[in-house]
Amino acid sequence: MRTQPKKGLAVLLAVLVGSVGAAAPAYAGGAGPTPGSAGLGDRLYPLLGNGGYDVQNYDLHVTYPEKDPKQTVTGDVTITALATQNLSRFNLDFGGDSVGVVRVNGDRAEFTRQGDELVITPRRHLPKGQRFRVRVSGYTATPIEANASSPAGFVTTTDGTFMAGQPDQSHNYFPSNDHPSDMATYTIALTAPVGWLAVANGTHVSDKRDHGYVTSTYREAKPLASELIQAAVGDFVLQKRPPVNGIAIRDVVPRRLADDLLPKAEVERSQLTWMIDKVGKYPFENYGSLVVDTRLGFALETQTISLYDTSLFARPKYILDPIMLHELSHMWFGDSVAPSEWSSVWQSEGHATWYELEYAEETGVFQQYTRMPNREAYFKQVYAEGDQLRKDYGPVARPLKADVIWDVFNPNVYDGGALVLYALRQKVGERDFQRIEREWVKLNRGKSVDTHDFVNLASAVSGKNLRPFLNDWLYGTTTPPMPGHPDWTVDPAEAAAAPAAATARHR
Ligand code: ARG
Ligand code: ZN
Repeated sequence: MRTQPKKGLAVLLAVLVGSVGAAAPAYAGGAGPTPGSAGLGDRLYPLLGNGGYDVQNYDLHVTYPEKDPKQTVTGDVTITALATQNLSRFNLDFGGDSVGVVRVNGDRAEFTRQGDELVITPRRHLPKGQRFRVRVSGYTATPIEANASSPAGFVTTTDGTFMAGQPDQSHNYFPSNDHPSDMATYTIALTAPVGWLAVANGTHVSDKRDHGYVTSTYREAKPLASELIQAAVGDFVLQKRPPVNGIAIRDVVPRRLADDLLPKAEVERSQLTWMIDKVGKYPFENYGSLVVDTRLGFALETQTISLYDTSLFARPKYILDPIMLHELSHMWFGDSVAPSEWSSVWQSEGHATWYELEYAEETGVFQQYTRMPNREAYFKQVYAEGDQLRKDYGPVARPLKADVIWDVFNPNVYDGGALVLYALRQKVGERDFQRIEREWVKLNRGKSVDTHDFVNLASAVSGKNLRPFLNDWLYGTTTPPMPGHPDWTVDPAEAAAAPAAATARHR
């Protein structure tokens, strides 16, 4: 589902034209069928996603043949999509091992693989505005070991496998339109040997037992960005907790570590109440934590079930809890409201950092967590490093590059993004700031949006034209003055990249 204006009209027209008769080619607007582009032209990841269609739903079924965490899995995915141009050909993103059979609307389709592009030529062209079905069956994918310095993807551990797809790895697990601008609903069915547990995003629909296997089916009925898919399969156990505000809670951990890990996840219940109080209704039906025994070096906001590694869960509560709050706040900022381009990732990380720090302060662990007395001191320090951060990593809403993972998930996106929110709050005051935050997550629930949408909304809600102010903060190569703090100064940027002192915070 891509959230663009006027789509409804285009669909309606195409349906009307299409209904004239199957014999007449139905080229809306007179354009003949052409290939969909191989990428969506994302500034940082140009080949992620594909042009010419908009996915509505994924029906994914993956089979885990044995109790072997390193094994190759086989999958079947049925994608329901809407053609947004007359398509002679189109791509999916796929980086797995092999592809079995591809069908479009039931007919076998030719395909080729070019890098991570699966190029599909349907037997008949697909008219603009028409819904179509692609089924990729009998594909295979093999998990990798986690490596703390690179993105992860489909990952193996002693206990089983899980997903850490952000930002560009989910298509190593399943053929998809792997870009957060195309959110869709998902049904995920996982077949594994009896005794293993399989958990995915969304709510549990059924468990069906057959010849030594169980197929566990989950439904995520709220739009999900492919980067945030979760499928954890292995020797895990699931613990349900009492619901919070009607939101079901379940945690998933390795069976052999359950006694140690489960009690530490309990805090998520009070954190949910805290976040709902700050920004409003929780956007999904359930929540929980998944802890995996590996060294990922990050936590990840996989939708409805945040992902953590055991090394984080071994750290003191004053570190673990604020990071858990960070991931929880992503359910509103990043998951439910997704970035429509990767350059807008500050929206997710800046907001998550904002609430993480606010929570650390309100729960009295700020000093221990950041080694600074309070948020004001913290932001003053980030402010001082503003020019250096912009020089090393690019402006907040225009990260320099995406060669390695840390270029995109860089300190200027996290701390710098939170600092933009601090500046905004200084400018409009606490009351309007809260109204902007609440409106943002309410208005854009289930949608992909970008930096300009935030700037426009902040202006509309506050009744002030904040475009010049926020654009300087978001796109400027130097740090603007901080409203209300004329005494705050910015250190000169050094020629050589220096690690930001603001990241003295435990991570
Ligand atoms: N979005 C994650 C967080 O804020 C960070 C993930 C960075 N690494 C990655 N491979 N996506 O906690
Ligand atoms: Zn984050």
